[in-house]
Amino acid sequence: MHHLNPLYGRNILNISDLSLADLELIFKTASVMKSRLRQSNKKASYLKGKTIINLFYEPSTRTRTSFELAGKYLGADVINFTTSASSLLKGESFRDTLLTLESMHSDAFVIRHPVEGAAAFAASNAHQSVVLNAGDGAHAHPTQALLDMLTLRERNICLKGAKMTIVGDILHSRVARSNIALWKKYGADVHVCGPGTLLPREIERLGVTVHNRIEDALEGASVVNALRIQLERQQKGMFPSVREYAQLFGVNEQRMKLARPNAVIEHPGPLNRGVEISYKVAYGSQAVILPQVESGVAIRMALLALTLEGGVPNEDFN
Ligand code: NCD
Repeated sequence: MHHLNPLYGRNILNISDLSLADLELIFKTASVMKSRLRQSNKKASYLKGKTIINLFYEPSTRTRTSFELAGKYLGADVINFTTSASSLLKGESFRDTLLTLESMHSDAFVIRHPVEGAAAFAASNAHQSVVLNAGDGAHAHPTQALLDMLTLRERNICLKGAKMTIVGDILHSRVARSNIALWKKYGADVHVCGPGTLLPREIERLGVTVHNRIEDALEGASVVNALRIQLERQQKGMFPSVREYAQLFGVNEQRMKLARPNAVIEHPGPLNRGVEISYKVAYGSQAVILPQVESGVAIRMALLALTLEGGVPNEDFN
């Protein structure tokens, strides 16, 4: 009998759904995809005949574009369904949208939505298509965590026991939650830091060390992930001013001296330069912000290839 890869037909909703074997398969496949990306002819026909629908209920540059290109590089047809309206999960209308699109024979939905659980809701209603979570509220953004980790692995960062720090707006961050989950799976010593108002109390239950002083969080860190201050999600009064935030919690050159000398600095983008990260650090030699973007295309190609086809693409896949 033909052996199907373990991700075939599965939804990618959350890091916790993925076993270590699944993760290793994703990273291995993403490396194959990355070499393909770097060739002059990026286009394969691996997913020819498949239809991927990007359903974005929130703005996005990197995630939407990279999912679109990932599908296209693999030969699939990709449709973008973008809406900035509908800020709430209006049960029926979201469900009707999915069922309508599914009647057009879609094979995958890539969903970004402001409401936590939107991707899982989609998965429980759309049975013909796989669902890939491209960010649901403050809950999860699994493909971001995977691309962040691929970028670290390529730099030979050993996660086991390493001090890994996330700085910033933890409260509103699905990127933080997915990265914490993934880093913990690999045995990292995870630290988070931010203003008290942006540090949800339940975060300690995820097994992380919480800091109010950035100096403590950066000391001895191997990896620093600086998060964007999500001004669009701020209720008034979460912090006094952007300037004060930069003074107290900005990742800058001076503070980075506390981290390990070869520490890697990540940022999911988009950047508020001069706020959560200084200009010099963002464009300095330790930052991997643009490599993260490249990894994003490779990870999304890997996930689309593995969930939509039963095989495992090797070096000379087409
Ligand atoms: C992040 C997001 O939307 O969750 N961006 C991204 O996907 N690269 C983080 C952010 O918006 O700050």
